[in-house]
Amino acid sequence: MKTVLVTGGAGFIGSNLIRELLSGGQYRVAVVDNMDSSYEVAYKEDNLRPFDGHENFIFYKKDILDFAGLKKIFEKEKPEYVVHLAAKTDTRKAVADPYIYEAINIKGTINLLELAKDYGVKNFVFASSSSVYGNTASVPFKEDDAHSFAISPYGATKRSGEFFIYTYYHNFGLNSVCLRFFNAYGENNRPDMVPYIWTDKILRGEQIEISGGGSRKRDYTYVGDTVGAIIKALELKDAGFEILNIGYGRPYSLRELLAALEKVIGTKAKVKERPSHAASVEETCADIKKAKLILGWEPEVSLEDGLSRLVIWFKQNRMKNFK
Ligand SMILES: NC(=O)c1ccc[n+]([C@@H]2O[C@H](COP(=O)([O-])OP(=O)(O)OC[C@H]3O[C@@H](n4cnc5c(N)ncnc54)[C@H](O)[C@@H]3O)[C@@H](O)[C@H]2O)c1
Repeated sequence: MKTVLVTGGAGFIGSNLIRELLSGGQYRVAVVDNMDSSYEVAYKEDNLRPFDGHENFIFYKKDILDFAGLKKIFEKEKPEYVVHLAAKTDTRKAVADPYIYEAINIKGTINLLELAKDYGVKNFVFASSSSVYGNTASVPFKEDDAHSFAISPYGATKRSGEFFIYTYYHNFGLNSVCLRFFNAYGENNRPDMVPYIWTDKILRGEQIEISGGGSRKRDYTYVGDTVGAIIKALELKDAGFEILNIGYGRPYSLRELLAALEKVIGTKAKVKERPSHAASVEETCADIKKAKLILGWEPEVSLEDGLSRLVIWFKQNRMKNFK
């Protein structure tokens, strides 16, 4: 049985990935997560609860900045694959506090690369982001767009991560796939993301805020599709070095997202306008031809179906267990 080391596995995408990896019975999963407090630790504990006691699952509460601690984990687990998801993730907070983003997202990534190199990891899958494109790349975003300039330090750390990963491929032959995720949503959603915040507020009859007149567009991608791409990437033979967009491939404006969510929930939202943040991009849209070609992957879940799954999960989990 092959071991996959998943950093950030207690989080949103990570916990969905673990469920999928364990369900096939093909993989052991070792998780490294420091349970950081960027959002409620109780939510992260809840994300991991289904795997408690699973024979193929082990959890290490560990900071990726603790190189010696990480090394012990690599020594014990000898992972074939690394999926590196651990990161600071808030585009806006990164503007106010870039140093912590630089430390965790760049130095933390280098720690993992060093160990992946030393322990002969077969494939290194990295969670990059659509944030690397900023506002200057042409829509739909293509991986080789020369006009990509992140407008948040968060996006800049993700681009740096890709650059460092390339050097490990070039110098040590570390097979790596950088996946640029576009706005994932679904079960175990991060509570600071718009689909979650709106679901929460609409279900509770509270007012929601919509920024910039609701015209900003995002390529919302169901998390099950995101996870499908991660698994295909880690199973890719002779990966070399790749950068791939992982999105649904069709942008929706905030207004369209709201209309879809109101339809799924069956309630009209009370809406208040607010200005948008300067580090928020106007539009994201993934060109996914390369991911289709290299991974044989395609998103399957429409916005309406994905939002239904988010709402069902929210009612059965967050509304029941947390408030
Ligand atoms: N969710 C999205 O739409 C999206 C889009 C683009 C990129 N990404 C990237 O995908 C990855 C996963 O995102 P997510 O939405 O699941 O976020 P998340 O915050 O739910 O998960 C990240 C996890 O990393 C852990 N972590 C943070 N700092 C750590 C440290 N120093 N040591 C160990 N663990 C640490 C956190 O505790 C958390 O559980 C991140 O790298 C993020 O930047 C996500």
